[in-house]
Amino acid sequence: MSQDIFIKHIWLVGFSGSGKSTVGPKLATLMRMEFIDTDAEIEKIANCSLSELFAKHGEKRFRKLESQAISKVAKEKRETVVALGGGAFQSPENRAIMQRSGITAYLKTSVPVIYRRLSSQTDRPLLQVRRAKGETLRAARLARIKEMITRREPQYRLANIIVSTSSKNPTEVARVIMQKVRGKRG
Ligand code: S3P
Repeated sequence: MSQDIFIKHIWLVGFSGSGKSTVGPKLATLMRMEFIDTDAEIEKIANCSLSELFAKHGEKRFRKLESQAISKVAKEKRETVVALGGGAFQSPENRAIMQRSGITAYLKTSVPVIYRRLSSQTDRPLLQVRRAKGETLRAARLARIKEMITRREPQYRLANIIVSTSSKNPTEVARVIMQKVRGKRG
């Protein structure tokens, strides 16, 4: 039975490297919707990169700006696909705003795939790791990613739609989300 949801925005949820910012514009094109990346919005408001924001003002300030960006996008009149930061869905207040203003889709991605996709990127503030003595950087990063995903997974799973992305390209993921969104519309 399809759920009675009035769909406006599509909120893309998932860990860094799950493909939210790559899948988002493709999905928006397929569904003729707008696209917004909340991390990019926050950088515009703060007038600096996320790394600088974290370094200067800390995660608490970032989370406040993130919640403000989510509230603002929720009120957007045009139907919008929204790529969120990996931690945005942890807050019950953020989740309530998203559930009221559209549908949420979790891009589920395995730890090894996330590690591989992020291996060349060193600018994610929460993925900066300190190695224990004798530990390789690879082992330290894998352990951090695993720990964070395990902690966040129960919240991610509250999303309306769950799509496994590990063995799909971004266009395939966008198509699956589109089909599932249409299924919810009934
Ligand atoms: C974060 C993920 C980042 C960004 C910030 C915090 C997180 O976004 O919002 O660094 O808490 O996991 P991506 O998921 O796009 O990397």
